[in-house]
Amino acid sequence: MTAPVKKAVIPAAGLGTRFLPATKALPKEMLPLVDKPAIQYVVEEAVSVGITDILIISGRGKRTIEDHFDRSFELEYYLEKGGKNEELAQMRAIADMAEIHYVRQGEPLGLGHAVSVAREHVDDQPFVVMLGDDIMHEKSGILAGMLAAHERTGSSVLALKSVNHSEVSLYGCVAHEPAGDSLVRVLDIIEKPAPEDAPSDLGVMGRYVLTPGIFDAIEQTAPGRGGEIQLTDAIKVLMGTEAVYGYSFVHGRYDVGNKLDYLRATVEFALEREDLGPALRIFLKDFLGPE
Ligand code: G1P
Repeated sequence: MTAPVKKAVIPAAGLGTRFLPATKALPKEMLPLVDKPAIQYVVEEAVSVGITDILIISGRGKRTIEDHFDRSFELEYYLEKGGKNEELAQMRAIADMAEIHYVRQGEPLGLGHAVSVAREHVDDQPFVVMLGDDIMHEKSGILAGMLAAHERTGSSVLALKSVNHSEVSLYGCVAHEPAGDSLVRVLDIIEKPAPEDAPSDLGVMGRYVLTPGIFDAIEQTAPGRGGEIQLTDAIKVLMGTEAVYGYSFVHGRYDVGNKLDYLRATVEFALEREDLGPALRIFLKDFLGPE
């Protein structure tokens, strides 16, 4: 048994070109799902498994992320004055739920490079990387399952999901062998292969528990796909010295960088809300009409 993981790293320096023009002046991490910015779901997911030390890898134009997780005295003053106690408590809770640190990536040199920027903060302990485009449903238990697997194996654990064969080129893709329960041992990993080169249809889904060995591995990783330092390539280097596992799951992941999946997440999350669900259900039935 290894010690519990205490730190999470959220890379948030990307440009969000898949969601232009909305992301021209607004960080993609701040796009709302119903009424909450996407990055708040990710921070809440970390907090739900007991990880409250969070490092956000930020960049130019991402200031509103810091403002969102900070206290807002002016807003709190007016909410208090107006007797809006529920909203006031909500605003304070956002600022209090985690200890959030920021570091800037500087240059967009790839996901592997973004993670390397976290080295000093992470300080030689296993940690979690959470990509903000992947939103996990709060009941999915994916991160909790990965952390349990890490505690059992002492190794890095990647979130894996089976995808359509034609879509493997959107993901890091693994060759694997069974390792019990939902676990597989990763035998090979390739960043965004063409379908004919893919070792399987299991893709990496934006959650990684990584051992600190990944930092030396990133240093040894040459620029790969798109001329960027890829985290996937660094994981392959890490596999030269350490076992790497995958935790495979089926449900509960939304790619909110994809417009259709963003809409699906918005509708599903709204339908689950007590204040919106019943009325939205009636609207959708009415709008779509009889089958
Ligand atoms: C990144 C990773 C890829 C991973 C994916 C998960 O790609 O490079 O290996 O499968 O996230 O969402 P991106 O989607 O940022 O291009």
